[in-house]
Amino acid sequence: MEKTSEQTETKKQPAKKEEVVIAIKGLKKAFDGKHVLNDINLELKRGENLVILGRSGTGKSVTIECIVGLIKQDKGSLKVFGDEVIDMNDKKLKELRMKIGFLFQSGALYDSMTVRENLEFPLTRILKMKDQQEIDKRVEDALDSVGLLDSVEKMPSDLSGGMRKRAGLARTLVINPEIMLYDEPTTGLDPITSKEISELILSIQKKNKTSSIIITHDMECARITADRILVMEDGEYIAEGSFDELHKSKNKTVCAYFNDIL
Ligand SMILES: Nc1ncnc2c1ncn2[C@@H]1O[C@H](COP(=O)(O)OP(=O)(O)OP(=O)(O)O)[C@@H](O)[C@H]1O
Ligand SMILES: [Mg+2]
Repeated sequence: MEKTSEQTETKKQPAKKEEVVIAIKGLKKAFDGKHVLNDINLELKRGENLVILGRSGTGKSVTIECIVGLIKQDKGSLKVFGDEVIDMNDKKLKELRMKIGFLFQSGALYDSMTVRENLEFPLTRILKMKDQQEIDKRVEDALDSVGLLDSVEKMPSDLSGGMRKRAGLARTLVINPEIMLYDEPTTGLDPITSKEISELILSIQKKNKTSSIIITHDMECARITADRILVMEDGEYIAEGSFDELHKSKNKTVCAYFNDIL
């Protein structure tokens, strides 16, 4: 893999060992004999925003579905908080999913429930919370953090696309996840709303010290949110670096993402 990070660090003192929250080694997955993930190697460090860029159909969503145990890999190791996900029983998987917020590509809300009920759902069904005052506080705090407190009693159909994305984000945030997985959080939104969502992702990282993987085709989102970027092609990562480092890359695939960016 091309590594564009410049070796500018001085050796004054040994670097503090960063905690790895997700560690993936040699991950492979095929569907009906067609290889999707060929050799995925990834480390997500605590507190980091890691952006994954890759063409449609390269297996980005499959990778994060493996992380939450919705899809099982054929080969390789995938550990979250040090535990191998494929070895987890249902109880362990449930516990894991309480620590991971997963903003699905479709971002679906339950259409028959108000925004408040949508947010209460993970609290009462997953966390089994009973104290209504505590539930109200968690719901309102989460909506406040995405600027949607005014819409608490609305139905999803009364929200704009951007508001629905924010409500979906609030529903994910309400369980205070340690890890956030964002699958194309800005797709289908206008540039201004996309920027707002990207800034929200950044503020969630800063405020909650969340570790996040952000899958996106939106280079403005990558620029705003990424501490580090991985570029995926043919089921593996072909380049890694910060936004500015990759911007200078000579690799054809990497350049294609940065073509329109000055
Ligand atoms: N459950 C499944 N069963 C069979 N094939 C699947 C399954 N999930 C994904 N695939 C296939 O794996 C490939 C990668 O899909 P994936 O959804 O990960 O792509 P992606 O990189 O997220 O693309 P996009 O940018 O369009 O969201 C596709 O060819 C898809 O058809
Ligand atoms: Mg996808």
